[in-house]
Amino acid sequence: MTANDASTGQQPTATYDSAFLKACRREPVPHTPVWFMRQAGRSLPEYRKVREGIPMLESCMRPELVTEITLQPVRRHNVDAAIYFSDIVVPLKAIGLDLDIKPGIGPVVEQPIRTRADLARLRDLTPEDVPYVTEAIGLLTRELGSTPLIGFAGAPFTLASYLVEGGPSRTYENAKAMMYGDPELWADLLDRLADITAAFLKVQIEAGASAVQLFDSWVGALAPADYVQSVMPASAKVFEAVAGYGVPRIHFGVGTGELLKLMGEAGADVVGVDWRIPLDEAVRRVGPGKALQGNLDPTVLFTDKNTVEAKAQEVLDAAAGLEGHVFNLGHGVMPNTDPDALTRLVEYVHTHSAR
Ligand code: CP3
Repeated sequence: MTANDASTGQQPTATYDSAFLKACRREPVPHTPVWFMRQAGRSLPEYRKVREGIPMLESCMRPELVTEITLQPVRRHNVDAAIYFSDIVVPLKAIGLDLDIKPGIGPVVEQPIRTRADLARLRDLTPEDVPYVTEAIGLLTRELGSTPLIGFAGAPFTLASYLVEGGPSRTYENAKAMMYGDPELWADLLDRLADITAAFLKVQIEAGASAVQLFDSWVGALAPADYVQSVMPASAKVFEAVAGYGVPRIHFGVGTGELLKLMGEAGADVVGVDWRIPLDEAVRRVGPGKALQGNLDPTVLFTDKNTVEAKAQEVLDAAAGLEGHVFNLGHGVMPNTDPDALTRLVEYVHTHSAR
């Protein structure tokens, strides 16, 4: 069976028993599983080769290309999970928003969402809007064998930050001004985005994804009280919508030290942690009943082998008392990273966590 049963989330046994899914479920593992956010992408020469001349968003809509790019880091690094190659703005493009991913910049939205009238442009997403996702995940689950595939989506706040600003921002001044100044419009916007995100994750799970990660990359810009009031209900709606599948739900953001507990309470099974807080402190903040994912500083990979190993060992040591640990970087692989350093890191984590 390649696809998940919609009611039970049933997986092929070898996938269900993988170290990655066991760690997410807080079960004993033979070794600490490891994968990297942005493991597919510009750090790999084979990625740069197959992407030549093909715009980012177009490449996300070609199932054979998506399959090849998703598999590249699995072949090269021996990571414990694949992450579906796509982008957080793909579902927004699929419902007809005029946006693009500009090289070296990121997502840019032609007409930002600023008024109540603009909300009408955010219609529901159906599986028919993203046939290439279902097709690519079908191809991938056959190729991956027992290696789990992680599906993902952008969380309502992070998506809203691009839609309201019109592109990447350091301050989120327009988005936060809407949040503070017109809380009803903001709540309706985030609720619309929660429905779109939930529908997009469901497509991926029903096609065969074994876990999902909700990227709220920029939510660290908020104070906890604002998170509770203005963001958490929408993120919780997303997690609740996919709870019935029984696949692990990972929740990640950057600079979220003060939000970790709340991000778990939003409905995550696994809480992603960036490099600013060691995992033994993160687990105190999150509390029991959740696995943690993280959290080597991605810039450590620009140092020598001994330093990388010493820093990786610090992460493993800090994780020693966790109920479940998935090794990852504290944010995505940076484009100039030496891919061999990543391969060596996977081997180090596997060897030095073997039980
Ligand atoms: O390997 C993987 O992790 C899967 C691929 C993936 C991409 N985007 C591909 C991509 C994932 C998980 C994402 C998620 C994503 N996209 C996030 C959340 C993760 C995070 O980093 O916090 C965000 C904020 C985006 C929005 C976005 N898309 C940005 C900021 C950029 C970078 C702009 C740039 O060029 O530096 C993109 C473009 C993008 N998405 C690239 C890739 C591989 C680079 C474009 C390219 O290779 O041509």
